[in-house]
Amino acid sequence: MKGIVIFLVLAAFLTACNTKTEVVVKKVDDGAVLSFSADSKYLLMPMEDTAPEKRMEVEVDHDHFNTFVIRPAINRIDYWVPLDLSGIHQKAVTVFLKEFQGYELFLDNVKLANSFDYEYDEPHRPAFHFSPPYGWMNDPNGMVYYDGVYHLAYQFNPLGTRWQNMSWGHATSKDLVTWEHQPVALYPDTLGAIFSGSAVVDIHNTTGLQSGEEKTLLAYFTHAGPNGQVQSLAYSNDKGKTWTKYANNPILTHFENDPDFRDPKVFWHAETERWVMVIARSLKKEIEIYSSENGIDWQFESSFGQGQGAQGGIWECPDLFEMAVEGEAGESRWVLICNLNPGGPSGGSAAQYFIGDFDGRVFTNHAKPSDIKWMDWGKDHYATVTWSDVPESDGRRLAIGWMSNWEYANDVPTKNFRSAMTVARELKLVTKGEELVLASYPVEELEKLRVEEVVFDNLVVENEQVVDSFLGQNNGAYELTMMLDASDADVAGLTLFNSKGESIDISISLSKGEMYMDRSNSGLTDFNDRFKAVTFAPVEKKEKYELRILVDKASVEIFEGKGSTVMTNVVFPTEPYNRLKFYTKGGATLVQDLKIYRLN
Ligand code: FRU
Repeated sequence: MKGIVIFLVLAAFLTACNTKTEVVVKKVDDGAVLSFSADSKYLLMPMEDTAPEKRMEVEVDHDHFNTFVIRPAINRIDYWVPLDLSGIHQKAVTVFLKEFQGYELFLDNVKLANSFDYEYDEPHRPAFHFSPPYGWMNDPNGMVYYDGVYHLAYQFNPLGTRWQNMSWGHATSKDLVTWEHQPVALYPDTLGAIFSGSAVVDIHNTTGLQSGEEKTLLAYFTHAGPNGQVQSLAYSNDKGKTWTKYANNPILTHFENDPDFRDPKVFWHAETERWVMVIARSLKKEIEIYSSENGIDWQFESSFGQGQGAQGGIWECPDLFEMAVEGEAGESRWVLICNLNPGGPSGGSAAQYFIGDFDGRVFTNHAKPSDIKWMDWGKDHYATVTWSDVPESDGRRLAIGWMSNWEYANDVPTKNFRSAMTVARELKLVTKGEELVLASYPVEELEKLRVEEVVFDNLVVENEQVVDSFLGQNNGAYELTMMLDASDADVAGLTLFNSKGESIDISISLSKGEMYMDRSNSGLTDFNDRFKAVTFAPVEKKEKYELRILVDKASVEIFEGKGSTVMTNVVFPTEPYNRLKFYTKGGATLVQDLKIYRLN
């Protein structure tokens, strides 16, 4: 009996706890007002991918809290997004939605909840590339290493799967391969959205912001808002767990007639014992260099860009660092990365770079101004920058890029999330033919993911040849390595395909000295006219081509010659490519050391 009473009391108590506070919906003349008490973790909102954008003003205890732009469901619910209420627990929240006639579907379904469940494993969710838990992602941001942990922040829309509400999503990793999602690091505020930027460890506490034993992490970013684009600072004294915006933001303001001024990348310049910032004057197509003793007050030093390199689009997301020249003891160069959109080699966004010198104030390009160098020749490698503060004992220069292209990024056929990063890559300055180039190659940690290996005998391909055994249970995440000896051929190629007739084709034309990847028949391609494409890259004429190809559900990264030529393209097959065919034209090709690894 006693047991039954306890049970009933407990049941009544639990029922009371579960009685969630309802969202009170009030229709007003030009819209709707939602009011509720933030007793749950989330306000869950139903969204429609292509519905019109609406402004959403949020007040907490009757004070302005934040403004977002959302695409509320009007005809159908495509996905849900959570407004995170954890920072405003138990407060009174009012949400104002303007011009909101006809949104009954949204208003009838919006609800409070303590969990946010959604389909994570949709077919094009990558297995080993970083992608946001849900929502839209673009550039990598705030990449810094501290106390054994790599931080990766990113341009994130926490309230939708198209670009908006720019915030810094945040993830951490100990090995650059397995990532753990962390709470959003920076949300928009009255100075504007949080655009791209970088992070560093303030080793000498030049800012004076350190408050305990841990070194302060500094995040420099662009606030894009009512006053145009200005530069701001946030800091963390708890190893990147929480971030506080600096009280006197902005720390560097824009120019009267050119508000496009963004993406600060900061590093410590040991020789001059000062901080250096490279930042894009996007429309002017210039990279400006600033310096600072304390990391807060910045002086203009110089500007680089006029008439230099690719000028087919605006300049964004720069990076500047010194690198050893492989194979030449004691030789080093400075590399300036400058992302460009559009105007890439196969259209749209791409990352170009310059090799030269930097004296702490001025960058000098060693090449002819008209020379153009691309880090990656595919269509889906953008906003690439490198990690700060990787220990000297490691010594690597590590980069990651956004694996998409502004031409179609907002339209790619995923649902709960949009886009992924490239794999983390190690950069090296190597000689390709007569030229010094910036090679990029998957970090060695990626090899840990090889869980199954299929090794093939050498193949002599006379015409075409299908390789029978692929991986047993192929879930679309795998790696191919091989040597192609095409010295007797004119064209050597391989096709990855599936039972639906979808395929990607990779080939090398010896006579043209070019490598290609054709994704025009790769699966879902009609979501945007610019998507179907054949991308190309110049390759040296040589006897053997060493290829490494990473395939991950919705992407293909091709590394030739240990990354001296790279091509990254996203694809959307409706079933994994699980068959492989080699072909040759104008003579036989020898396929040596062919291996396929399942990656997990
Ligand atoms: C590059 C970029 C940056 C900007 C950010 C906004 O992709 O346009 O210049 O800071 O995206 O999301």
